[in-house]
Amino acid sequence: MNATIEELLNNQIKYEATASMQYLAMASWADAKGYNGVADFFYSQSEEERVHMTKLVKFVNERSGNVEIPELEKPKATYKGLNELFEKFLESEMFVTEQINHVIYKCLELKDYNVHNFMQWYVTEQLEEEAMARTLLDKLNIIGSDKSGHYLFDRDINAIAAAHDSK
Ligand code: FEO
Repeated sequence: MNATIEELLNNQIKYEATASMQYLAMASWADAKGYNGVADFFYSQSEEERVHMTKLVKFVNERSGNVEIPELEKPKATYKGLNELFEKFLESEMFVTEQINHVIYKCLELKDYNVHNFMQWYVTEQLEEEAMARTLLDKLNIIGSDKSGHYLFDRDINAIAAAHDSK
């Protein structure tokens, strides 16, 4: 495996792991605040990111590359409210999209079409996740600081997410 690509894929393993732990911290924050729907949403997002991470670990190993399981920074644990929580969620997804685009760019530059092909799954997945994060933040921006709006958002978030997934 090309050394540059190997390094980029290892970085990507770290970004997916970071997102997974960040979403676990978000789920736990929401759980403690009584936002059960939001907590379920982030518990499940955390699992998804773990799947993204493991898929990369397996791929690098299959291609006889060297995987380094990374050390992670402590995730942000407290939030001013749902708006900040979902702003951070969108920020995190936009960052991951940027990194994936960078891997794709390098694959083309170095003519590594196998990895390029493998990464297409991430491109599609990322498009959906970023769009979902944007939709949820848009809804929260409409709601503003209205408490009953937040109550309904928490009640309906998993239905909104499911409807988004089936589009
Ligand atoms: Fe796998 Fe949403 O980053």
